[in-house]
Amino acid sequence: MRRAPAAAFLLLALLAAAEASGPEGGEQACDKGWERSGSRLCCKRNITDFFKARHFEELFPRRNDTIAHAAGFWDYPAFIAAAALFEPRGFGTTGGKEMGVREVAAFLAHVGASTSCGRFYPNPMAWGLCYKREMSPYQNFYCDDSNELYRCVEGLQYYGRGGEALFLNYNYGIIGKGIKQDLLSHPELLQQNATLAFEAAIWRWMTPVKWRQPSAHDAFVGNWKPSKNDPLSKRYPGFGTTMNIMRGDRICGQGFTDEMNNTISHYIYYLGLMGVNHEHSGRSLDCADQVVFNPSSKSLGS
Ligand SMILES: *[C@@H]1O[C@H](CO)[C@@H](O)[C@H](O)[C@H]1NC(C)=O
Ligand SMILES: *[C@@H]1O[C@H](CO)[C@@H](O)[C@H](O)[C@H]1NC(C)=O
Ligand SMILES: *[C@@H]1O[C@H](CO)[C@@H](O)[C@H](O)[C@H]1NC(C)=O
Ligand SMILES: *[C@@H]1O[C@H](CO)[C@@H](O)[C@H](O)[C@H]1NC(C)=O
Repeated sequence: MRRAPAAAFLLLALLAAAEASGPEGGEQACDKGWERSGSRLCCKRNITDFFKARHFEELFPRRNDTIAHAAGFWDYPAFIAAAALFEPRGFGTTGGKEMGVREVAAFLAHVGASTSCGRFYPNPMAWGLCYKREMSPYQNFYCDDSNELYRCVEGLQYYGRGGEALFLNYNYGIIGKGIKQDLLSHPELLQQNATLAFEAAIWRWMTPVKWRQPSAHDAFVGNWKPSKNDPLSKRYPGFGTTMNIMRGDRICGQGFTDEMNNTISHYIYYLGLMGVNHEHSGRSLDCADQVVFNPSSKSLGS
């Protein structure tokens, strides 16, 4: 009972804050639909307002090419269906429209760079979504026996699949739990169903790898406030830190490597196709000298 006045006061304060933050900066405070009253998630806007089928075609124009390895698999409706599940949590709907465009470009840059087969072709950026699975995985390389929670199922392989090249038994286990699919028993779902493949990748983007770490989403849209250690580790909000979270020491903390540059180039290129000048790409694009949040163990990447 004693708490009631405080709670009421807090509510009023929140309402007042929502009022004050008003519609400037392209942000709307609103209380319709799924968003909380006064939240920064904008009502009545979703990704389909600024990311149309033609944008998807422009970003991934070679995906059905005869030499592409997943021709006919990836499509726009699959991305939109998967994205819709995460829009209420802020995916593409946090901040103003430009932030929405930037977040979709950033997320898809990770996907495009991980699934590209165009590295040695002219216009290498046009070859995203060329793969849906790793083509020649090492046998038995992707089972971490020491993980008791997510045991490998006999006879199945946990090599890279989907839009983020998800690999290893525990990643399949954790992400499967996140998207409510038994990926440990059915890893093949990620190469059979493009909606699930996008869902798995967006779930990873939206979810911190570990407790007290930011998700890639939070690091990108600015929900994350770096702690005292983060600047020492050269981690600031921006695209660079999303690479740290999603890819760790496979591409971060190793200087300006080809692979890191390639991921950044995808982001800038996609932004351009979506009508945002590279000057609006945000700060801290790279992770060249960042300390990674989650160093991979000696034997296996994670
Ligand atoms: C590629 O294939 C998908 C799925 O069959 C189809 O929806 C899309 O229109 C095709 N796009 C191009 C550029 O060929
Ligand atoms: C987004 O907008 C499209 C087109 O207006 C609509 O079909 C779709 O249901 C909307 N999605 C969500 C999650 O509101
Ligand atoms: C892919 O998975 C989604 C989500 O579970 C489901 O709604 C859809 O029917 C599946 N598509 C196919 C072709 O199995
Ligand atoms: C990556 O990009 C940086 C900055 O543009 C450049 O200095 C560096 O040489 C590039 N690295 C590689 C391996 O191309």
